[in-house]
Amino acid sequence: MYGSSHEGGGTDRPAHPRKRVTAPSLRERKGAEAITMVTAYDFTMARLLDESGIDVLLVGDSLGMVVQGAETTIPVTLDEVCYHTRAVARGARHAHVVGDMPFMSFQVSATQALENAGRLVKEGTAHSVKLEGGAELAEHVHRITRAGIPVMGHVGLTPQSYHALGGFKVQGKSEEAARRILEDALALEEAGAFAIVLEAIPPDVAQQVTRALSVPTIGIGAGPACDGQVLVCYDMLGMSLGHRPKFARAFAELGSAVQEAARQFTADVRSGTFPAPEHAYAPSASAAPSAPRTRRSSAKLAAV
Ligand code: KIV
Repeated sequence: MYGSSHEGGGTDRPAHPRKRVTAPSLRERKGAEAITMVTAYDFTMARLLDESGIDVLLVGDSLGMVVQGAETTIPVTLDEVCYHTRAVARGARHAHVVGDMPFMSFQVSATQALENAGRLVKEGTAHSVKLEGGAELAEHVHRITRAGIPVMGHVGLTPQSYHALGGFKVQGKSEEAARRILEDALALEEAGAFAIVLEAIPPDVAQQVTRALSVPTIGIGAGPACDGQVLVCYDMLGMSLGHRPKFARAFAELGSAVQEAARQFTADVRSGTFPAPEHAYAPSASAAPSAPRTRRSSAKLAAV
């Protein structure tokens, strides 16, 4: 019903020969094939992106802004990320699924970070977790990875620090700030992170960090030198509401396609051209009184 199928669903195509993308396989991609990561928040989008060959599905705390309509990512809870991650993981047959640790789910202590990373993997069925921050989180990352949970780091613009940064602003513009980003990235790698997101930093700084690390960098607004790129799915699909970030390219214009489809639906319902005869079930037996109602036709009706 409702057009989309549930588990085992999606399309009827035979199983794709691609293998599951894992944290170790992503790590080995450094300097080889570029990594693609896109955010996803639900089963249907996850399945579509997975079947298109995207390597990593990130259940980002950006869901607070693009799914819930909040101004920042700060209000997002761990329960909410777990809920969306479970849905995405059901859609991901091959892609690696990263659950984003929301604000205040890991900052308090390494023990809190480990417990909540465990929840994201156990309840959310994430394959790894991502957390925002630098050297101050080295112990947290170390504890989580030692427990067998792969960790993706995230430096540069860290949106959970919105108030401390004074807004969503490009980071690493001064020599000192660029050096701190490099040190943070190195500390996360040393602590065991298998990949690091670089957000909103100058391309030369991203290049320097990428060269200095032995794990892959995945950039968003960080230029072309990174080992991979990540976009919020709605930006990639041309569904950004209002402002589209400077760094995001829309690879389709689905926002206007959605609106055009909805306008057409409204027009067709009002003009009576939808539903057409081909969208209707067979008339009921009571609509054709001349046909005697047999036991078989009653059974068919019950099956509708
Ligand atoms: O939450 C998110 O979507 C992210 C990406 C922008 C990297 O952290």
